[in-house]
Amino acid sequence: MDREPTYGATFVRHLAKLGRHTPYRYEDLRLVKAMSQTELADWIKGKCPEFSLVVRDNPAEVAAAMVHEKRLAMTARSGDMAEIALSLFELLTLLSWGSTMTATPLPTGPDGRDGGQDVAGATAIFAQWQVYESIIDRDLMRHREIYAGIHAFVAAIYRRPFSLLDLGCGDASSIARTFAGTALAHYTGVDASAAALQAARRQLAAAPFHVALVETDLLEYLTTAAASARPRPDLILAGFVVHHLSFDEKRRFFSRCRETLAPGGSLVFYDLFRRATETREQFVAAYTDLIATRWGLVGQTLDDTCRHVREHDFPEPLATIFKLAHDAGFTQPGEERFTDADGFHRLVCFATEPLPAQSAPRTHAGIQPPRAARSRKRNRRPD
Ligand SMILES: C[S@@+](CC[C@H](N)C(=O)[O-])C[C@H]1O[C@@H](n2cnc3c(N)ncnc32)[C@H](O)[C@@H]1O
Repeated sequence: MDREPTYGATFVRHLAKLGRHTPYRYEDLRLVKAMSQTELADWIKGKCPEFSLVVRDNPAEVAAAMVHEKRLAMTARSGDMAEIALSLFELLTLLSWGSTMTATPLPTGPDGRDGGQDVAGATAIFAQWQVYESIIDRDLMRHREIYAGIHAFVAAIYRRPFSLLDLGCGDASSIARTFAGTALAHYTGVDASAAALQAARRQLAAAPFHVALVETDLLEYLTTAAASARPRPDLILAGFVVHHLSFDEKRRFFSRCRETLAPGGSLVFYDLFRRATETREQFVAAYTDLIATRWGLVGQTLDDTCRHVREHDFPEPLATIFKLAHDAGFTQPGEERFTDADGFHRLVCFATEPLPAQSAPRTHAGIQPPRAARSRKRNRRPD
């Protein structure tokens, strides 16, 4: 006898997409992946006898059947993978979380104190540093290309000893490598996560430059300690952290960086970005889809990573970041040094003086062509 086709990977991908909007149990999804429709109906009956598979004429009846009759319902178009997935997903939600079918609303901004970043929430995921480490190792956020771009930028314009302030430094695992062969003399790493800084301390134990690590909120640091810190930073690095801030905090971030930098200094900014016309909802849908389909994460790790994006990532489009930097007094328009094919991960450099033309070599695929020719060569002055 011919066996019915199983649901397979496409089906599970649909479920994973739906899972962005409401919590779901990954183990359940894995189980159903290999089931035929008949097996699925049996499985559901076994799991919870009052549930059974029914066919209804239209989506409103399907919804009613699921909410009121607690049945896995689908319309006659049940060959449609997305629809089956939706029905099953909603049923699993009922099974796992009682009778509520309310989707978790997507936050419109960080929900920390005074509408600012929820720092503890945003940093919590980094307590499990191994997950982020493996994301970097597999270059899923394009760290390799970004660090190459930073090295090229720094080597071209920072020829004399300089100081670096790294905001949201994490475990600083790539700092020594990225700045090898440059004139880096003083490094200050700031991070709100004690676990990250503990790892950073180990990573930089043998660094050939002076190291200071400060456990605090980066805006707090820029507002208080940075003004009196010596030497003033010639270079500020902010990597994959500013997208956690509220819009108002992002504005303050750029202003404070501009005030903190030594004369002639630069801000090297790499982060998550929204595409030009993308809403936050569309960004969350697209980025969590990329994570679910291309990052190879499973189970709790996949859930936690997608939840982190949903709850704590508030990236801006490139034009907004350019405007914030320009308003803060950085030279217009900022230099795009790297953008990945999806437009999510970018490296942009902002200067307080026009940059020399040779500072933007195109060393690998994905590096953007230099923007308008820089007006004059600049020999970086030491502080
Ligand atoms: C995605 S990691 C980036 C680490 C590193 N910069 C990189 O490029 O891989 C974000 C880091 O920012 C830290 N962080 C998030 N919000 C922060 C804040 N408001 N102040 C200081 N650190 C923060 C987190 O603890 C985490 O270590």
